[in-house]
Amino acid sequence: MIVPIPTALTALLFSAFAVADPYPTYKIKPKVFIISMFDPEAEIWWGIPEFDILAQNITVPGFSPLFPDAHCTANGEVCQLVTGESEINAAVTIASLVASPTFDLTTTYFLIGGIAGVNPEVATICSVTFARYAVQVALQYEFDIREIPDNFTTGYVPQGSTSPDEYPQSIYGTEVFEVNDALRKLAVGFAQTAVLNDSAEAIAYRAHYASDDNIYAAATQPPSVVECDVATSDVYYSGRLLGEAFGNYTKLATNGTGVYCTTAQEDNATLEALIRAHAAGLVDYARIIVMRTASDMDRPYIGEAATTNLFWSNQGAFEPAVKNIYLAGVKVVEGILNGWNSTFAPGVKATNYVGDIFGTIGGTPDFGPGAVFNDNPVTSVGKRGVVRRRVPRK
Ligand SMILES: *[C@@H]1O[C@H](CO)[C@@H](O)[C@H](O)[C@H]1NC(C)=O
Ligand SMILES: *[C@@H]1O[C@H](CO)[C@@H](O)[C@H](O)[C@H]1NC(C)=O
Ligand SMILES: *[C@@H]1O[C@H](CO)[C@@H](O)[C@H](O)[C@H]1NC(C)=O
Ligand SMILES: *[C@@H]1O[C@H](CO)[C@@H](O)[C@H](O)[C@H]1NC(C)=O
Ligand SMILES: *[C@@H]1O[C@H](CO)[C@@H](O)[C@H](O)[C@H]1NC(C)=O
Ligand SMILES: *[C@@H]1O[C@H](CO)[C@@H](O)[C@H](O)[C@H]1NC(C)=O
Ligand SMILES: *[C@@H]1O[C@H](CO)[C@@H](O)[C@H](O)[C@H]1NC(C)=O
Repeated sequence: MIVPIPTALTALLFSAFAVADPYPTYKIKPKVFIISMFDPEAEIWWGIPEFDILAQNITVPGFSPLFPDAHCTANGEVCQLVTGESEINAAVTIASLVASPTFDLTTTYFLIGGIAGVNPEVATICSVTFARYAVQVALQYEFDIREIPDNFTTGYVPQGSTSPDEYPQSIYGTEVFEVNDALRKLAVGFAQTAVLNDSAEAIAYRAHYASDDNIYAAATQPPSVVECDVATSDVYYSGRLLGEAFGNYTKLATNGTGVYCTTAQEDNATLEALIRAHAAGLVDYARIIVMRTASDMDRPYIGEAATTNLFWSNQGAFEPAVKNIYLAGVKVVEGILNGWNSTFAPGVKATNYVGDIFGTIGGTPDFGPGAVFNDNPVTSVGKRGVVRRRVPRK
């Protein structure tokens, strides 16, 4: 949507009111902003029949040198950016977007649409997942596995804690993010109308995950739309033990609610930038959808080496997963546009807590330590009460 603001001509006509304006003469007010992380995820939206997202390219200061432009349809209703990969790129790009005077993002829905590794205990390759929680799983202490005590199951220990299963005692604030579950359910409904892509190689690879104990039964099923949570880590980890350790940490950090199923390198960073933007009145944090499609298994099947699964296997899922970003994602975009006046312009009321572990944008987290902040280098109990900003949820 393009909202005209005084043009050079009107400024001239009403020169008494004219002020120097270094910014474009209009603001773009998108209904949906697609967040891609790298080229394949971005390009799958280009040249599609539903809309032309390359109609406008807008260079945004602070974007990645590899991906300097935001892209928008001619009417500005749908836009896209490419963050660049991993946490730092995601945080800086989104922080730059929300600071840009070219965009009014106060009613925009953000659709994170990327590929991810998948936990075969919960879902399978080529599936489309929608997260409620995003957990920064590697924000922990780490010891090399050869130096850990005999009774540790992993080298990762939550910060401020002294054993792997102790709740993190030192909280940075980006550990866990929770998004609008009612909006997620609408997005799942839209995505379920898509016919998902698959490949013969992916079908063959899934079959290897059948076993007597059925631990990876979910991995043997055809691709589908699944509600489960995303882990964020700059380290591209792989294998059963790290997958299980981060699954355990996800449960711990979300007080038992989170189900670790996908692994990616950006979402917590994107969400942290958006939560700060919400606190500044620039975006509505209740309008975020985190969609990840499964491009590879995060761990081997029983009997396969972890390195074979990551480096050498032909899982056949990368291309279908990229394609499914578009196939499922376009249904979500169309669902939002078609239901704009009735449902999405006013907003989908969240019935769950939305926000971060600090309660930065108000409400009481259903995870995290509440008022208990031991050994916290960032905020003490008293300070937290003072610095916490409460902005009404829109
Ligand atoms: C926008 O950029 C893309 C490639 O990044 C290009 O294909 C497209 O033609 C550009 N659109 C306009 C209107 O210049
Ligand atoms: C490991 O053993 C030490 C020493 O007995 C004990 O203090 C610690 O709680 C144990 N940790 C775990 C994770 O069991
Ligand atoms: C990442 O975001 C998720 C969901 O908001 C949150 O649960 C998790 O703690 C975050 N993790 C880190 C390391 O920031
Ligand atoms: C997946 O997409 C590819 C490339 O467009 C196509 O050749 C193939 O038939 C599709 N497969 C399914 C199962 O949709
Ligand atoms: C995950 O937690 C379970 C249950 O506490 C434990 O048995 C398992 O060893 C843990 N896995 C890792 C890799 O830490
Ligand atoms: C939505 O509302 C706008 C503004 O009132 C109107 O122009 C548009 O036709 C409406 N769209 C639908 C699909 O009802
Ligand atoms: C989450 O679990 C921790 C550790 O057991 C506990 O201290 C905290 O009160 C729990 N938070 C909520 C909101 O239940």
